[in-house]
Amino acid sequence: MNWLLKQVHTNLAASMTASADLFDKVGVLLLHKGQPITESIQKLLENREVFIWEKKEDENRSANIIKPFPKDVYEKLVGSLWNIYHEAKLISQEQIKKTIELVEIIIKQLRATNVYLNLNMVRLDVEQFRHHDYGTFVHSLNVAILATLTARRLGYSEKKLKYLTLGALLHDLGKLNIPKEILNKPGTLTEKEHLLMKQHPQFGAEMLKNSRVLPSVLETVIKHHERWNGTGYPCGLKKNDIHLDAQIVAVTDVFDALTADRPYRKGLPPYYALEMIIAGAGKGYDPIVVKAFRESLILYPENAVITLNTGEIGVVAAVPMQMPTRPLIRLLKDNKGRIINKEQYIDLMQDLTRFIGRIEFNLPMRGYP
Ligand SMILES: [Fe+2]
Repeated sequence: MNWLLKQVHTNLAASMTASADLFDKVGVLLLHKGQPITESIQKLLENREVFIWEKKEDENRSANIIKPFPKDVYEKLVGSLWNIYHEAKLISQEQIKKTIELVEIIIKQLRATNVYLNLNMVRLDVEQFRHHDYGTFVHSLNVAILATLTARRLGYSEKKLKYLTLGALLHDLGKLNIPKEILNKPGTLTEKEHLLMKQHPQFGAEMLKNSRVLPSVLETVIKHHERWNGTGYPCGLKKNDIHLDAQIVAVTDVFDALTADRPYRKGLPPYYALEMIIAGAGKGYDPIVVKAFRESLILYPENAVITLNTGEIGVVAAVPMQMPTRPLIRLLKDNKGRIINKEQYIDLMQDLTRFIGRIEFNLPMRGYP
């Protein structure tokens, strides 16, 4: 379900009450539903364009069924990936066969309905990072889930989807050949370390040389750091010289990398990472892929309870199609935890000082005022 501002023609008489919340064309609330229309308000409204929020059904989504990617399945997938690949050198056909079984589980989960990935699902502590390469596998799984959702939005066939998901799971395999001290190094890499790091696409392709994976899978591994405008590596390829699978993985890879917590820094809020990617459409990223990614990513499900950076708690009332990172929030509690009994909204499209700090996906949504 998406929401759009729809213009309404006002023919309002004084002494009526507003039958809906009324907004101006940029989404600023003019009049609350139920408020009396005085003569001065009537005059004001007559001289302005007035809008209401209107639900727009999205045919590609069964809008009311939104569920998180199941945590138990997610954890089993990370564990299986680790079992198959930790300390891997040359990848065998047997390892690929096992990975395709995981691909099928991912696609099956995502086929069912409108699934979102709760990016906070897996919190890795520093010890896990040190003792296992879990970081790479969590990242690979997140990228695979997000890439599969994006590719499905782009109309990929089941067969193409399977190889896209496989390529996404394997895209950073070459990082297993990079010493952990460099991979998890806090702070800036030296030039030598940076150059080594930038070789991971070729290391990955080298590891897969005996595995007989399809060329499109290798393309994803080798080209996921290429960029639409030619500023990527290893070859500086441009636009459609980069396989579409690799372009999808490029976008989802950056999104997950920006939002992930690292032992040495906190991840960016998802809305901020998405805005950075939207800003890169037509520059670093294929605009068609960015659009599909934006449309497939359920950042803030409708009715999700959120906490704003300023401490207020609210519920997502509407997600504007034009700017899904900045939903309309109906406030439930003020920043001192006091319940707000009257309907009060904050439009994040207008209030750029506020943003969503935390989201509670699973709270029951009954009983708010
Ligand atoms: Fe990479």
